[in-house]
Amino acid sequence: MTEWHRKDLLDLQSLSKEEIELVLETAKGFKEVSAREVKKVPALRGKTICSLFFEDSTRTRTSFELAAKRLSADTLNIAAKVSSVSKGETILDTAKNIQAMNVDAIIVRHNVSGTPKMLAENLRASVINAGDGCHEHPTQGLLDMFTMKERFGKIAGLKVAIIGDILHSRVARSNIWGLTKLGAEVTVCGPSTLMPIGIEKLGVQKTYDVHDVISQSDVLMLLRIQLERQKDKFLPSLREYAKKFSINKQKLKKAKKDVIIMHPGPTNRGLELSADVADGEYSVILDQVTNGIAIRMAILYLVLAGKAPTRADARSGSRPKPPSADERRERAAPTGGDD
Ligand code: CP
Repeated sequence: MTEWHRKDLLDLQSLSKEEIELVLETAKGFKEVSAREVKKVPALRGKTICSLFFEDSTRTRTSFELAAKRLSADTLNIAAKVSSVSKGETILDTAKNIQAMNVDAIIVRHNVSGTPKMLAENLRASVINAGDGCHEHPTQGLLDMFTMKERFGKIAGLKVAIIGDILHSRVARSNIWGLTKLGAEVTVCGPSTLMPIGIEKLGVQKTYDVHDVISQSDVLMLLRIQLERQKDKFLPSLREYAKKFSINKQKLKKAKKDVIIMHPGPTNRGLELSADVADGEYSVILDQVTNGIAIRMAILYLVLAGKAPTRADARSGSRPKPPSADERRERAAPTGGDD
């Protein structure tokens, strides 16, 4: 089996197919922990994990915290509004101060693409990207792939349509990198103004007509219209967008019988999908949320333990073997900048 050698998780662009499969397999082992009455294993006992969020979040921050707690790590949360960044401190200085308190991993969400990479290059601590600008949201892509694999038993050959605001979507980018590496056929669909120029170079097909993808797809992944990232007006009106692209029961009549509806959340009911579709039989939106914990347990475990868990790590929850002296020296070496 592939081994995990990364200090950080920054994106899915740089992960190999084998590394993505290792994360999915590791998450499968950890999913069972959350179904137990006592939802805890001691796999990361003694580790400290800090969330540093400069944008709002419900699902990602909560599920990282639950994942860390279920692995018995100590956790702390810093929201930008209550950090000293609001007094002029740089994010790197903030992160170095957190690291100085012997924190092992920092989970960061920021509206500037590349912020997690900059931190990773300057910190000994592991850095996990919880969403950076319009760049990537790797754990969302991983949990989406996990949900598809759980439902269909495979990713290779699946026809996946990603519908909506492709231009501003870090979720779309992470899914495109991950799904194409695992052999899915991806089509992106949305208004021409919200379609990045040259998107086909990433190995996807493109259409501006939602009817082109509804009948053929195994997965309809809807994206949130990100009005907060749209400095200019990209749409004539939201009503027009909903009429053309919103998935409702009527449009779904043409879909495959076993189609699944996905959405990373937060959803805008009536805009990206109708309420009866969001809550209906094809929706796996809440399964995605559930699976987010298993994926984030897997990522925290892999970056902090530096290896795939044994069956016992995930099931009975024995602690990981401590890294060797060589591994510790390697992991302690900063990859850039000074501390
Ligand atoms: N999917 C997602 O990133 O949701 P949150 O913004 O609530 O974390």
